Amino acid sequence: MISIAIDGPGGAGKSTLARRLAGELDFIYVDTGAMYRAIGLYALRAGVSTKDEEAVAALLPKIRLELRYVDGAQVILLNGEDVSSAIRAEEVSMAASNVGAHPPVRAFLLQTQRDMAKTSNVLMDGRDIGTAVLPDATLKIYLTAPAEVRAARRVAQLAEKGTVADFAGVLEDINRRDWQDMHRDIAPLRQAEDAVLVDTGDLNLEDSFLALRNLIRERTGV
Ligand code: DC
Repeated sequence: MISIAIDGPGGAGKSTLARRLAGELDFIYVDTGAMYRAIGLYALRAGVSTKDEEAVAALLPKIRLELRYVDGAQVILLNGEDVSSAIRAEEVSMAASNVGAHPPVRAFLLQTQRDMAKTSNVLMDGRDIGTAVLPDATLKIYLTAPAEVRAARRVAQLAEKGTVADFAGVLEDINRRDWQDMHRDIAPLRQAEDAVLVDTGDLNLEDSFLALRNLIRERTGV
């Protein structure tokens, strides 16, 4: 089986690029962030503080996550409910980052993520795929871009949906979440030693796609 790990901070284009690459390669795309988001959403709905490790851990036995693939797109079901849209809400981003800092939450998701790579060719994106989930991945990519560029892209993305966002506020949220993801004790976001660094700061989406497509061809032969 071939596994491609793509890690990096939020807003670097990971999910958009990974989804398209997986479609082209006919690999299963595993968006691990969606799993953390679903747990964050569950905790928010339960009225539990997402920073409270014990309280969040107590919820885990009540959570059943399923990933389905509809026309190649990942759909995530939380106790049978399709939450693919609900997990994209702004407040869920920080909730996901908060719950992702708790070891029981990471343990809860780790085996599922590993098992997916045993049975299919996968392109998996997240924060700790190359460092913790798939340390033997065929290819590891660390995808990043300067925080200001990621914030500007986010503002543009929101504008497309008709939402006016304040650049400074978006930048602050991005920096806060990056800092938290990079400084937690367990599986922090960092570039694996054997990961290829790709900075999309000066690349548009099409060029980023081509850069990754070429890299995958060179390194894996697919
Ligand atoms: O990729 P994303 O923005 O959807 O991820 C949301 C949060 O989930 C991210 O800020 C940290 C957490 N996460 C994680 O801890 N480990 C992963 N492999 C993926 C996401």
